[in-house]
Amino acid sequence: MLIRLQKYLADCGIASRRKSEELIIEGRITVNGVVIKELGTKVDDEKDEVFYRGKKVEKQKEDLIYIMLHKPEGYVTTVKDQFDRPTVIDLIKDIRVRVFPIGRLDYDTSGLLILTNDGELTFKLTHPKHNISKTYIAKLFGAPSPEEILKFKRGLTIDGVKTAPAEMEIIKNEGKIASAKIVIHEGKNRQVRRMCEEIKHPVASLKRVATGNLFLGELEKGKYRHLTEKEVNYLKSL
Ligand code: URA
Repeated sequence: MLIRLQKYLADCGIASRRKSEELIIEGRITVNGVVIKELGTKVDDEKDEVFYRGKKVEKQKEDLIYIMLHKPEGYVTTVKDQFDRPTVIDLIKDIRVRVFPIGRLDYDTSGLLILTNDGELTFKLTHPKHNISKTYIAKLFGAPSPEEILKFKRGLTIDGVKTAPAEMEIIKNEGKIASAKIVIHEGKNRQVRRMCEEIKHPVASLKRVATGNLFLGELEKGKYRHLTEKEVNYLKSL
């Protein structure tokens, strides 16, 4: 069957579809001995010989796996960090297949992170048109006023672009620090932190507690578990 090279690479577990596109553009992929930099290129998944890092890229024989990790602060969500900081992959010990994070959490953010070797699902869920909700508990410096909360909810301008409407509910106010439940429907870089900075209540700590209807629950920090079939089906249905 003829399929796009970046999809073939993702299906084979080389990287997410977007990262695979970067590998192609960087000239790191060969097809039948020829470097291919053209993103539209299609390959025959039964006949063509695709190579990456001197190794033949082949369809995965292993099952698809889906993991929920409680990411601690102090870990990056890339597979390899340019500054050699610990990565979330270092926490996934006894799983032999290569998994990739779906989306990202900042180095200083903790909470729910899904990892999988399902390139198709990763592509779907990280596509900007996907507005799956993400719920956070944020500790903020000072409690936002009702006016500031309203501004937050209506959307704020970050990098010249207005964010989609969001939710904020103050759940605890301890004077200097207030806890807020925040729901956003996009995934702009450092979005919650920047939105909170915009209303002059910077984030002291941030934890993601849900992605859509998937909840972190009692999963301990640094630990992971496999998603249930129901949870996987839910993600695929989005
Ligand atoms: N928003 C942020 O600011 N940081 C995260 O890690 C996730 C959402």
